[in-house]
Amino acid sequence: MRKNIVAGNWKMNNTLEETQLLLSELLNETLAKEVTTIVAPAYPNLSLASTVLKNSDILVAAQNMHQEVKGAYTGEVSAAMLNAVEVSHVILGHSERRAYFNETNALIASKVDAALQNNITPIFCFGEELANRKDASYKDVIEKQVSEGVLHLSANNIAKVVFAYEPVWAIGTGETASPEQAQEIHSFVRNLIASTYTNEIANSISILYGGSVKPANAKEIFAKPDVDGGLIGGASLNASQFAAIINSF
Ligand code: PGA
Repeated sequence: MRKNIVAGNWKMNNTLEETQLLLSELLNETLAKEVTTIVAPAYPNLSLASTVLKNSDILVAAQNMHQEVKGAYTGEVSAAMLNAVEVSHVILGHSERRAYFNETNALIASKVDAALQNNITPIFCFGEELANRKDASYKDVIEKQVSEGVLHLSANNIAKVVFAYEPVWAIGTGETASPEQAQEIHSFVRNLIASTYTNEIANSISILYGGSVKPANAKEIFAKPDVDGGLIGGASLNASQFAAIINSF
């Protein structure tokens, strides 16, 4: 049985004090036990989140990470630094990182390697832009992102990765991929994993959907057979909305 996972990507929102408030609101919510819940605050708030969530079932993710072990990389954060503040997951290859910080498939692959070497679970994001959907090249784009980003991994390591399909045109736009569009890509990627590794590995991997998921649409998206949860941006900044999404399974 693969895990159902809902992760909140808080992006560049919330000061320390605001993070504290959101965390305590979240702890007051009743969350479905069978769903792995993860929150991803900004770097300066990770340590607080790990401390506050220590005795809860909620895990903490970082939103990015540098691929090198240490050194002269001003402004960057290493895997060891994330380990030290008990971060279990890291979002890698988010479309905002690809678009605004020029992250390439090759760079993302090296970040995935660094995370796994440090026992941090990558939440590997991929997804096409609107133009790719319009000209029907979206599957080729996704196949390239996935192949170059993670399909170099050993069977043992690929099984540790959480996948997240996030069509760029659906992120923060209020436009959601239909459950059928999500299912099509999730099953496409699962087949890609199966043909590179084994059916057993492909069936054990959680593939999340992200892009304008809200309490109103989560249930029908999560009901699709190859959708194992969500990566939530905007709606994860509100504890009751985030809880309603988690409880949509
Ligand atoms: P959104 O963001 O839910 O606000 O569309 C999703 C994401 O970027 O992970």
